[in-house]
Amino acid sequence: MTKKNLIFLPSEKSCDFTDEESVLEVALKNGLEIPHSCGAMGSCSTCRVVVKTKTAPLPPRTELEQDIADMRGFDDSERLSCQLPPMDGLVLLVPT
Ligand code: FES
Repeated sequence: MTKKNLIFLPSEKSCDFTDEESVLEVALKNGLEIPHSCGAMGSCSTCRVVVKTKTAPLPPRTELEQDIADMRGFDDSERLSCQLPPMDGLVLLVPT
């Protein structure tokens, strides 16, 4: 399997991943703590990340993620890391 990679800011942590994981899972496996109060159920928004760079269009939001995005007024770059599949070349800011 070809390794893919994404980067989290502001730590500039570079993380390899496989296709089955969410962005949140990639972060946690690499020791990067992103809050996830609802346990990755897509209902709390504490796992929000901001997409700074992408190399391909992002997949559309899940229904759960869209509900949260509408409620919280997210712009297109704000995504729930528990609902977003990792993509090679992504650069994501973890808000502090
Ligand atoms: S962990 Fe709650 S929405 Fe992602």
